[in-house]
Amino acid sequence: MWVRFPPSALNKVDGSNPFEGAFVCPMKKFILDFLEFKKSQLISGDKNYLKFSKENFKLKTVEIKNKKLALELEKECDKLGRFLTYSEFLNIDQFGEYGYHKSHKDHGMTGVSNRWPEAIVKLLAKYQIYNMIEFGPGNGKLALKTVKKANERGIKIKWSGVEIIDSFRREIKENFKKHNLYYNLNFISDTLTEIKIQDKSAAVLSYSLDSIPPDIFLNIRDSTFPTHMLGITVKNGILKEILLDKSLLKRKNITLKKGVYQKNNGVKVNLNNWNLKPYQRLFLSTLALENLIGLVNALPEKSLILIIDEFRVSPPFWEFNHLGVPRDLNTYRRDRFDLDNLYATSGENLLYYPFYYFSFLNILKQLELDVLKNDEEEKMANEISGKKSKRGKPSLTYSILAIKKIKINKNKIDYFLPNEINYKDKL
Ligand SMILES: C[S@@+](CC[C@H](N)C(=O)[O-])C[C@H]1O[C@@H](n2cnc3c(N)ncnc32)[C@H](O)[C@@H]1O
Repeated sequence: MWVRFPPSALNKVDGSNPFEGAFVCPMKKFILDFLEFKKSQLISGDKNYLKFSKENFKLKTVEIKNKKLALELEKECDKLGRFLTYSEFLNIDQFGEYGYHKSHKDHGMTGVSNRWPEAIVKLLAKYQIYNMIEFGPGNGKLALKTVKKANERGIKIKWSGVEIIDSFRREIKENFKKHNLYYNLNFISDTLTEIKIQDKSAAVLSYSLDSIPPDIFLNIRDSTFPTHMLGITVKNGILKEILLDKSLLKRKNITLKKGVYQKNNGVKVNLNNWNLKPYQRLFLSTLALENLIGLVNALPEKSLILIIDEFRVSPPFWEFNHLGVPRDLNTYRRDRFDLDNLYATSGENLLYYPFYYFSFLNILKQLELDVLKNDEEEKMANEISGKKSKRGKPSLTYSILAIKKIKINKNKIDYFLPNEINYKDKL
């Protein structure tokens, strides 16, 4: 059996992909993973696994170099019950007053506005949809180009956006005005909460789900599903990781029972299929899942959902390193395994957190979405636009086009440990 892996499945550590576009035999994948495992054994020494895990898996205490950010984090700790969850910490690290986005110009904007306007207008026309809602539109380049193109074809659409960065929200509004497109602007909001979508729509999420900070799940004894989450305290510039047990989690309105994470807004994520080794971490953005679930629940039937994003390879079953560590867009080796350094340089790194590809497809299935197409990003944009379908440059990214056939309101999701070789059985 030959399986088409997503491009990211075969990435080398430097982000390049030696088998881009190739069809790869699972046996070959197995051998590559095995060699990778052997290489890591050479570094850590398998007999020394316990020593290695103690070093690598211990809770961190690190001095933050950016003192203003450290103070901001300390104040947030005081405000939010003396400690932060990891996602609360990263939210400030990225979007806070002294976080990455306030002090840097590079926001990770992509080339989607060159590839997708034509394709999106074709989809709108085909499915007779006149509303587009973008989650994480950034500076709104894709929105403007798509609306202009639709207007040229006589398709009058309304565009709405949900964008967390306020300067982008202002920029989008100004641009719609400047280009006399104010008629096409429906709303622009900072959060999905309480948004009502009346008419069937095309929801576009381009490189935004993987920008939503993860939490860290782990267990501390036997290999089992996660029993704890990691928390962060900051005092006098020193960041410390702490273990959040049931009682501390309760203070954040979270329960973690038999591997099932639940927030007081009702969203449940079942992680009991993840057999983590003691102190092995799973970084998972339950917030991204919450947003996805919220958006899908809010969309009327027959709406389209287009997700363009970077994904990551399924871990081999013997993986003993942390799972789903944050990636840094501006570093050569994107996976940031050096967590001490990552904390020390807080506020200086443009982080993102891709999902495991097959687990993600599985989630779309659980949300009762019909996946119409999934393929490498540029190739799919070309195909839908009717352009000659050449395979794009080596890329780590995929697009998934799905349709909401039935009205559902789902709040519980199983996030399965992905397994590429028999993923088809699970889909
Ligand atoms: C990598 S940029 C991609 C921007 C644009 N869609 C593109 O493809 O060029 C991610 C965008 O998602 C936004 N974002 C991140 N978290 C968000 C959230 N929770 N709600 C809304 N937008 C969010 C960021 O502010 C940023 O504009």
